[in-house]
Amino acid sequence: MAANLLKTIFVIVLLMLSAGRLSAQEEAGCVDCHDADSPAHAVFNTVHGSLGGGGSAACTACHGASAAHDRRPTKNPPDVSFGPQWPSDAETRSASCQTCHDKDDQLLWTGSEHQQENLSCDSCHKAHQQKDLVLGKQESEKICLDCHTQVRAQLHLPSRHPIVEGKTACTDCHNPHGGPGHAALRQVSVNDNCFSCHADKRGPFLWEHPPAAEDCTLCHKPHGSVNEPLLTARGPALCQQCHATAFHPSQPYGSEGLPGGTANKNLLGKNCLNCHSQIHGSNHPSGARLTR
Ligand code: HEC
Ligand code: HEC
Ligand code: HEC
Ligand code: HEC
Ligand code: HEC
Ligand code: HEC
Ligand code: HEC
Ligand code: HEC
Ligand code: HEC
Ligand code: HEC
Repeated sequence: MAANLLKTIFVIVLLMLSAGRLSAQEEAGCVDCHDADSPAHAVFNTVHGSLGGGGSAACTACHGASAAHDRRPTKNPPDVSFGPQWPSDAETRSASCQTCHDKDDQLLWTGSEHQQENLSCDSCHKAHQQKDLVLGKQESEKICLDCHTQVRAQLHLPSRHPIVEGKTACTDCHNPHGGPGHAALRQVSVNDNCFSCHADKRGPFLWEHPPAAEDCTLCHKPHGSVNEPLLTARGPALCQQCHATAFHPSQPYGSEGLPGGTANKNLLGKNCLNCHSQIHGSNHPSGARLTR
């Protein structure tokens, strides 16, 4: 009940604020106590400092009108707090930011994995710092990797996307606020994600290799792998996961091909790719077997 009432008041005040109907006098409170010496004032050095016209109106834009808190002595929490003393729940915190940021990149926040895992906007963003570190590519990566330790390990494997090298960043591929499809990617499908940088793999090809058209991650790991180049498995084994039928070279090699035995052409070929080099698809008239 009480929470609902507060929420209603919060919304009404926000509406009034945006309509510019609250006088400066009524909302003068926040900066009286949270004065120029308090760390909270750093917010005036950010884009949010002028919200509502500046002053205390900036504070209430995110923390709510906070009538119960806005009096001496202060015993009650503000309507929306990001802690440390009276932290609101994640939903309330994010809802505060979303009154203004519910479009563009933030459109798909609700329902995203991060939202469902109880993260809130302030898990990554700092509103009271002149420089919100998470907006910088290199810095944001550190913040991501604090939680994603498994990905951190993948970034240092011998074959990898040049992420630690600074040529690609998590946010080139992922939208941390949620995406339209799988794994919060910026694109609807994994392949559309890959094509956004590797356009040459898009085709259309006269002779397609179905797994490449279907999902690049059938053969590649996006972050890093022990197998060059970013492959899920090495050499013939990669191909033989699918091509295990009783046909020429797609069978595992036996000892009969070893020196002393009868060296066969498959062994000399070593890797399927020596002959089937157009593994992503071919446009050659006689490239049906992806050999040219
Ligand atoms: C009468 C003095 C006073 C006024 C007026 C006041 N505050 Fe506070 N506020 C405090 C004190 C004291 C604390 C607790 C100690 C601290 O964090 O400085 C506090 C804490 C906070 C916190 C941190 C809450 C937490 O969970 O740790 C926020 C956010 C906050 N105030 C926002 C506001 C806003 C927004 C307004 C204006 C609507 C406001 N305050 C008006 C005295 C005041
Ligand atoms: C853009 C939204 C936003 C605005 C505007 C804003 N805050 Fe905050 N506030 C936050 C967030 C988010 C945190 C959590 C810490 C952080 O992100 O830096 C926070 C933390 C706090 C804290 C607790 C931590 C601390 O620094 O002591 C206080 C107190 C506070 N705010 C008061 C204020 C006051 C007073 C104003 C107006 C001068 C204000 N805030 C304006 C979003 C905002
Ligand atoms: C009352 C409206 C309002 C609220 C509430 C609000 N913002 Fe903003 N925010 C703005 C405006 C206006 C801008 C500047 C224009 C823009 O980039 O859209 C902005 C810009 C930003 C930016 C880009 C900053 C930059 O330097 O480019 C970030 C990040 C951001 N807000 C995060 C937050 C977070 C996190 C919260 C909640 C803690 C929040 N905002 C709450 C209005 C708001
Ligand atoms: C997992 C970390 C994370 C969370 C959680 C998060 N953000 Fe962001 N946000 C980022 C990163 C990284 C960027 C900069 C890269 C980008 O544009 O995607 C960013 C950029 C932004 C921007 C400015 C740039 C732009 O063009 O959109 C706004 C505004 C913003 N976030 C608002 C929010 C709001 C509101 C929430 C909560 C609903 C939120 N963020 C939650 C990481 C996060
Ligand atoms: C506070 C911890 C935290 C931070 C910071 C964080 N994440 Fe996450 N993230 C999670 C959790 C928890 C999950 C769900 C479990 C999992 O997949 O690991 C998740 C899931 C994801 C997913 C999978 C989404 C899906 O729909 O399956 C992606 C992608 C992701 N995070 C990217 C990022 C990026 C990029 C950043 C930095 C901008 C980031 N995360 C920062 C905690 C975090
Ligand atoms: C080149 C594009 C790309 C970059 C850069 C990238 N990712 Fe991913 N990420 C993907 C793809 C594609 C998937 C989906 C993988 C799958 O489904 O097999 C994924 C999956 C994830 C997942 C879901 C769990 C998992 O491992 O499958 C998390 C978490 C994640 N990425 C975090 C990150 C973080 C953190 C960074 C930055 C350090 C990052 N990613 C950089 C493409 C990328
Ligand atoms: C944001 C751009 C971007 C996206 C999206 C992207 N890549 Fe890359 N990729 C790169 C860059 C940059 C390189 C390094 C190229 C170089 O160094 O010449 C690279 C290299 C590679 C390599 C070769 C690695 C090596 O060791 O030589 C493979 C394989 C690869 N990407 C596969 C993928 C797959 C699969 C996807 C989709 C999941 C994808 N890429 C999405 C930018 C991207
Ligand atoms: C059937 C397995 C398979 C699939 C599916 C696959 N690849 Fe590859 N990819 C390979 C192999 C094998 C190599 C190494 C080729 C070589 O060494 O000549 C490779 C190499 C690459 C390279 C680096 C060399 C180059 O040709 O630029 C990139 C980039 C790449 N793949 C992107 C993709 C993208 C994007 C997709 C999805 C459209 C994809 N791959 C799907 C097996 C695959
Ligand atoms: C994820 C399963 C998968 C993987 C891994 C895979 N392929 Fe395929 N490949 C297919 C499918 C499905 C077809 C289509 C078969 C058909 O049309 O009968 C195909 C077709 C082919 C063809 C054309 C054959 C024909 O009948 O037109 C060649 C050649 C081929 N693959 C070679 C390779 C090589 C070499 C590798 C390893 C680099 C590989 N494939 C990895 C699934 C896979
Ligand atoms: C020495 C060259 C060479 C090597 C090595 C090689 N192939 Fe082939 N492969 C061919 C040629 C040539 C054809 C076409 C045969 C035909 O059309 O009768 C073919 C045909 C195929 C076909 C199509 C079969 C069909 O049903 O029509 C598949 C699938 C295939 N190879 C998979 C593989 C795999 C998997 C490997 C590795 C284990 C491999 N090849 C290694 C030369 C090679």
